[in-house]
Amino acid sequence: MKKLVVGNWKMHGTRASNAELIQGLLAADLSVSAPKADVAVCPPAVFIADVAAALAGSAIAVGSQDVSVQAQGAFTGEVSGPMLKEFGATYAIVGHSERRSYHSESDQLVADKAKAALSHGLVPIVCVGETLAEREAGQTEAVVGRQLQAVIDTLGADLAKVVVAYEPVWAIGTGKTASPEQAQAVHAFLRAQLKAAQAEAAAVPLLYGGSVKPDNAAQLFAQPDIDGGLIGGAALKAADFAAIARAA
Ligand code: G3P
Repeated sequence: MKKLVVGNWKMHGTRASNAELIQGLLAADLSVSAPKADVAVCPPAVFIADVAAALAGSAIAVGSQDVSVQAQGAFTGEVSGPMLKEFGATYAIVGHSERRSYHSESDQLVADKAKAALSHGLVPIVCVGETLAEREAGQTEAVVGRQLQAVIDTLGADLAKVVVAYEPVWAIGTGKTASPEQAQAVHAFLRAQLKAAQAEAAAVPLLYGGSVKPDNAAQLFAQPDIDGGLIGGAALKAADFAAIARAA
């Protein structure tokens, strides 16, 4: 199976810096230099149209960092699945820990967003992950299991159509990566939970996110249950992101 390498640009960039980043990614010719990876980038919503146009015809797909549960209506500030789709998005990240913590997104809201994304033809990348305090309290499996269970219960038969990203909160933007063994252990747990819910869901791609860099990507991607990565900081540098895709 091909790995999936997704860049989450978070709230970074300008039209000028995006154009430079994209130029670097196109120059890296990832379909040739990283043939074992499917690649996508998730810019801030206002840039999606620009980025999708600049990447049209390339092998790099585009996604959003969030999606509304609603399709349209009086929901000030929200961006809907049909809007994202119209402007070229293929994926929608949902439940990133920054949204769970800064925007109080509950497990159920995240699951509803995953359902909304699927209903509008977007592939949801559902993020789960524990905080450092939860890990130290031995709660890692209970936390990610609870976050995933809401998605399992909400999606029913569509479960196999999602992507799941394990992002330990303590590893995000900290330079502290989960060791390949730590990440693999949680991925194996998530895989088993998906499989127990639905046989086909055993094939759901499981991405690891949290301080993935060119020098640790290959080791992480070599783990049996790590199917790719969700990349933050390193996705803002074309050379680093391309090197991570090549490590797949
Ligand atoms: O969604 C990606 C992310 O949260 C990881 O960020 O900067 O640690 O790679 P970073």
